[in-house]
Amino acid sequence: MALPVKLDSTSRTLADLGVSLPDRITALFADLRAEFDREAVGVRDESSWRVFRDAWLGRKSGVLTRVSDNWLKPATPALKRAVGAALNELRAHVEATVQARRTALDDLAAQVAAGRDRVDLSLPGVHRPVGSAHLITQTFREIERIFLSLGYSVVEGPEIETPYYNFEALNIPEHHPARDTMDTFYIAPPPVGAAPPGLLLRTHTSPMQIHTMETQQPPVRIIVPGKVYRRDNPDATHSFMFHQIEGLAVDTDITFCDFKGTIDYLVKQFFGPTVRTRLRPSYFPFTEPSAEVDASCTACDGAGCRVCKFSGWIELFGAGMVDPAVYGFVNYDAKRLSGFAFGLGIDRFAMLKYGMHDIQVLFQNDARFLRQFR
Ligand code: FA5
Repeated sequence: MALPVKLDSTSRTLADLGVSLPDRITALFADLRAEFDREAVGVRDESSWRVFRDAWLGRKSGVLTRVSDNWLKPATPALKRAVGAALNELRAHVEATVQARRTALDDLAAQVAAGRDRVDLSLPGVHRPVGSAHLITQTFREIERIFLSLGYSVVEGPEIETPYYNFEALNIPEHHPARDTMDTFYIAPPPVGAAPPGLLLRTHTSPMQIHTMETQQPPVRIIVPGKVYRRDNPDATHSFMFHQIEGLAVDTDITFCDFKGTIDYLVKQFFGPTVRTRLRPSYFPFTEPSAEVDASCTACDGAGCRVCKFSGWIELFGAGMVDPAVYGFVNYDAKRLSGFAFGLGIDRFAMLKYGMHDIQVLFQNDARFLRQFR
């Protein structure tokens, strides 16, 4: 690219330019400085600043280098001093101005960014909806409060279990038919032909009965809230992941009356003082006798309606007196001790209390549904 006329002179020597007297030097440098100042005004962004800087300060072929090479170095002794002084002065001006332009560009960019990020206090604020505990959590807390008032402790246990704690120590040996009702998800299946232990997702909170009795001497009064898993197909009353609260009380003097009284107290506290309970014979390998606890229908007060299939009763949960065989697994003295245990399905408790007909709504996270239970 051709140099501007004034800069073109820097490619030639002073002799070529016909300059032999010091008083012409001042004019030559004044021309250069004027050209420089004119170009400086045109620098408006980062890339034009770089071109500008290199054009004047570039080591190989910048204007100042050319002046040094073409004017200063070959200058006659008579001119050298004047050229050197003028060049120093011009260099100081060029360097200061190039730096000043850069600072001005940076300031401008910062101002633009600040304007972009500025908070406009007149705009309406961001609305952050306030959340609340999920209905399942609320139900857990409500039942925990009831049992805490009876002197129970709340303990939690692992969701990943060994078959020993989930089945065997609860008196459910490997080929017992009770395992069919609790098919589960295995994490580490036992090697082919080898016996357990594999690892599985617990099917109920009952394994914590064993963990607790293994580590604690009677009296025991605990409840165990937590998640459990089964290979159940999802429908209106089943989910493959749901929630239980286990209860266990063991001492030297616990009778069936304590069991009945505790269950009745729980149901009345949770569903209301007019709800009645009854026990129906049932079977669990780890309780003897075992019972299904029914509550009088909250929709019709026991008169019979569609909710209770006109029976007046609704099945609530399984329970019973601890089978002495279980004490054998934890080295408790079955002759001296007695106790009861129960396992509440928390999702079904919540459904019954709040009149829900589909368990799945508890897991769909639809805010319109959840908002009703703040
Ligand atoms: C048991 O899980 C026993 N461990 C309960 C127990 C504890 C009995 C201590 C005696 C002593 P069951 O399989 O019936 O029992 O389940 C207990 C409750 O879990 C049921 O009453 C029901 O409310 C709930 N439940 C069972 N399967 C599902 C499922 N797939 N989805 C939602 N809730 C379920």
